[in-house]
Amino acid sequence: MPLRLRYMWLDDIQEVVAIDRLSFQPSWRHESYRFELNESRTSHMVVLEKRAVASASARGSWLNQLRGRLNGTAAESARGDILGYGGIWSIADEAHISTIATHPAQRGNGYGEILLAGMVGKALRLGAGYIVLEVRVSNQVAQSLYEKYGFSRVERRRRYYASDGEDAWDMRLTLDGAARRRFAQLYGRLQTRHDLADAYSSAGHPRG
Ligand SMILES: CC(C)(COP(=O)(O)OP(=O)(O)OC[C@H]1O[C@@H](n2cnc3c(N)ncnc32)[C@H](O)[C@@H]1OP(=O)(O)O)[C@@H](O)C(=O)NCCC(=O)NCCS
Repeated sequence: MPLRLRYMWLDDIQEVVAIDRLSFQPSWRHESYRFELNESRTSHMVVLEKRAVASASARGSWLNQLRGRLNGTAAESARGDILGYGGIWSIADEAHISTIATHPAQRGNGYGEILLAGMVGKALRLGAGYIVLEVRVSNQVAQSLYEKYGFSRVERRRRYYASDGEDAWDMRLTLDGAARRRFAQLYGRLQTRHDLADAYSSAGHPRG
């Protein structure tokens, strides 16, 4: 399946919120995504989509023409079905993974890894020294994904999740030479396994 990583757009929010509701309790609201896209100076939100082949009508719409002018060609600006999403906040030396999820029907296909790799690549591009995140202690799947990229558990935060009082692990990846080499190897492997266009990790922020 042809895939594309790209910055999240406002008209992705409805689909993203639907995946969020199936993935997290509590989930982020529509307004939170609008804030991340419209207001936040530090946020780099990403989606992984099934790459769309732009139809003549889609190419012709005013919105796609505008996107085509802003982002490249009209074909690059057509929307595809969203398989998952994520986000990082970049503040000084730190990149903080704020969220990551794939659609429950699409899990186990390597898409979560593509999203994580895209965000690690973005953090490197932004010059971050390390990446941090919080994960539920019960969430073995996500922890295993993070460990694959070299993240380690640095601190257990008691009752971090207000909704049910579960603890979180703070996990951290220092972006040293070893982490960069591991990332390059894993990212290269993803590129050979998937028909993947990465229009996110090296792209400039849509709001400049
Ligand atoms: C965590 C999540 C994003 C992983 O996405 P995914 O698309 O299922 O994962 P992938 O298919 O890309 O698998 C990547 C890695 O995750 C881990 N993983 C995936 N499924 C797993 C499973 N059933 N059991 C254990 N580890 C698993 C493995 O390390 C895997 O690497 P491998 O293929 O080399 O074994 C997804 O499960 C999800 O959206 N969960 C709900 C939201 C969530 O918990 N987000 C994390 C918040 S901190």
